[in-house]
Amino acid sequence: MISLVATLLAMSSVTAQNHTFDINTKKVGGPIPSTMYGIFFEDINYAADGGLYGELVKNRSFEFPQHFMGWEAFGQFELKNDGPFNKNPHYVRLSDSGHNDKFTGLENEGFFGIGYQKGADYRFTVWARNPNGDGEVTVRVLFCDPNTMGERQQFSEDKIVVSGKEWKKYEVVIKANSTVDKGTLRLMLTRNSKTVDLEHISLFPVDVYKGDENGMRKDLAESLEQLKPGVFRFPGGCIVEGTDLATRYQWKNSVGPVENRPLNENRWHYTFDYRFFPDYYQSYGLGFYEYFRLSEQIGAEPLPVVSVGLSCEFQNGSHRSDKHVDVDQLQPYIDDVLDLIEFANGDPAKNQWAKLRADMGHPAPFNLKYVAIGNEQWGAIYPENLKPFMDQVRKKYPNIKIIGGSGPNSEGADFDYLWPEMRKLGVDLVDEHFYRNEEWFLKSGNRYDNYKRGKGEPKVFAGEYACHGSGKKWNHFNAALMEAAFMTNLERNADVVEMATYAPLFAHVDGWQWRPDAIWFDNLRKFNSCAYYVQQLYSVNKGTNMLTLTMNGKPVAGNDGQDGLFASAVLDKNTGEVIVKIINTGDKAQDVTLNLNGMKGSYTAQLITFHSDNLTAENTLDEPEKIVPQTSSLTVTAPAQAVSIPARTFSIYKIKK
Ligand code: AHR
Repeated sequence: MISLVATLLAMSSVTAQNHTFDINTKKVGGPIPSTMYGIFFEDINYAADGGLYGELVKNRSFEFPQHFMGWEAFGQFELKNDGPFNKNPHYVRLSDSGHNDKFTGLENEGFFGIGYQKGADYRFTVWARNPNGDGEVTVRVLFCDPNTMGERQQFSEDKIVVSGKEWKKYEVVIKANSTVDKGTLRLMLTRNSKTVDLEHISLFPVDVYKGDENGMRKDLAESLEQLKPGVFRFPGGCIVEGTDLATRYQWKNSVGPVENRPLNENRWHYTFDYRFFPDYYQSYGLGFYEYFRLSEQIGAEPLPVVSVGLSCEFQNGSHRSDKHVDVDQLQPYIDDVLDLIEFANGDPAKNQWAKLRADMGHPAPFNLKYVAIGNEQWGAIYPENLKPFMDQVRKKYPNIKIIGGSGPNSEGADFDYLWPEMRKLGVDLVDEHFYRNEEWFLKSGNRYDNYKRGKGEPKVFAGEYACHGSGKKWNHFNAALMEAAFMTNLERNADVVEMATYAPLFAHVDGWQWRPDAIWFDNLRKFNSCAYYVQQLYSVNKGTNMLTLTMNGKPVAGNDGQDGLFASAVLDKNTGEVIVKIINTGDKAQDVTLNLNGMKGSYTAQLITFHSDNLTAENTLDEPEKIVPQTSSLTVTAPAQAVSIPARTFSIYKIKK
C-alpha cells in the first residue's frame, strides 16, 4: 500500500497541471517592427580580419608596428617606406639571394593559418614594380602546407611576371589542389632574379559572398543572410570608442581604395591579458562601404555606431579628463556624423562623401535611417557630449533616428540616471546592454511590460545581450533557452522594443576573446550556435502584428505559478498564420491548452521544436548540426487545442488561420 501511494504521489508530481493560454486572434495588436530582430557586428574574436572579411593575408601592407608580423622574410629583403599609397607607405624590396642555392622570398601565415579548399580558386593580387626597370622579374606564388609529411610543401603554384618601373597591380587566379586548414602563402624569386618591390599582397577566395570585389567569406555571410536580420549594427562595441581616442573606429579611414585605408589597432588584442593577441589589428578592409553594402544584401537596415568623443570609459574613467573630448572641441566628431549621413544618403553631385560612395560603386543612396551616437557610455559626460551632436543632426537631418545609450548595465545607478537624461535629450531609441546569468533571464520575463509608452517616449534598442551562464560563460543549449524565454518579452512589447541584437556575432575558435557568440568558425568550417538558432527562430517567425496571450489574465513570463513557462503570440498577416512561441524552462513537461479565441474548426499547423537532452551541449565544428530546430506538421482544433511542451524546450506553433 505504502509503495502504491508513493508511486501515485511520484506520478502526480511528474504529471503537470494544465495551463490555459488565451490567445486573442480577433483583436490584432500593433505591428512588429521590421527591425525587431537584428545582428550586432564587432571586430572582436577575429570577426572581421581573419573572419567575415575574405582577405587571407595578415598584414598585407606591412603596416603593423612590427612590419614583418605575420610574415617570414628570407634571403635579400628590405623594408621601404616610400610606396605608392601615402597612408600605407611601407613595402618590401626583394633582391637576388646572390647564390645559386639560396632563395629570397616571403611567407605569410594568414590568420591562424590560411584555409585552402581543394578545387577552389584563389585570387592573388599584388602591387609591384621593378625599381631598376631592367627587365622582367618572375615571382613564384605558392600555396604551402608547412605541416605536411609529404615530399613537397607546396600543393599549388603559379607566378606573376613583373616589369616596368611603375607600380602596377598584378593578379593571378590559382586553384588549390589540396584542402589545408593551416596553410601559408609563399612568394619566391627565381634564381638570378632582378629586384622587385611588392606592396599590398592579397589573397581572396574567388567565391566570396555575392562575388563582390573586396568581398566577404561566403559561408559566414550566408549565416547572416539566413538570420533574415531586420537591422545590422556595426562596427561595434567598444572598438567604436577605442582604448584611447586615437584608436577609436574612424569610418572615414575605412572607405576609399582598400590599399590606402590606414591600419588601426584593435583594442581586443590586449583587453584581456589572459587572452592576448598582439597581432590583432584592423585593416579596415571591411569598412563602412562594405558594411552598408552587406546590410543591403542581407535585407537589414544599416545602423552605424559612432564615437561621441569619449574613449572607452572602462579604461579611461567616466569623468572629464584629457582622455575624452571636451564639449567645445567636439565639432570634428560631429562633422564625422554629418558626413556619414551624406556618405550613406547624399547626392553624389552635391557632396564629396556621397561622391565617394558613388565612386566606390554605389551611386544610389543606402537609405540610412538610424545612427547610434556613443556605445557604452555613462556618467554626466555622456549626455553633455551627446547634446551638441543631437542638436546638429536633428537640425540638418530631422528624419534620422538617433539612438542614445543607457550604459553597460541592465539596471542600477548609471542606468537609472541615463534613461531620464536620454528622455530629456529626446533620443528616438535607448540602447540597453545586458550580459546576464540564467537567474536574471528567468526573472526578467516582464522587463518591458511596464515601460512607459506613447508619443515622444524613446523606444528600446536591446543592442547587446546574451545569457552568460553562472559558471558556464560559454555557448550551451540552456543559455540559448534562457534567451528564447526572455525574448517572449521583447515580442510581447514590440510597441516599446523596436530592435534587439544578440552579441557578439562571430568568433574564431583560435582567436576569441569573448564568449558566448552566435557563430563560430575556423579557417574552413563554421557552426551556428544554439543561440544563433534561437535568434533565427524569432526572426523568421516574427509575424507582422502582436496578439495578446495570457494565462489567468496575466502574461506568461515565468512568474510564480507559471511552472517556468514563457509565451508570446503574433499574427503574420502575409501568411495568415497565428504563431505561438512557448518556452518551457522547467525540467518537467507541461500541458497547455491553446485557447484560440476567434478561431473555430480544424487548421493545419506546423510545430517547430528546439531541444537538447543535454543542457550543456552545443553544436561544434565537427558536429555543426547536433542541435537544430525540428519541424513537424499537425492538425489543430480551435478554439481549444491541448498540447504538451516537453521539458527544456522551445516550441513554436504556426497555425494557418
Ligand atoms: O560585445 C562585447 C562588448 O561588450 C562590446 O564591445 C561592448 O559594447 C560590451 O561591453
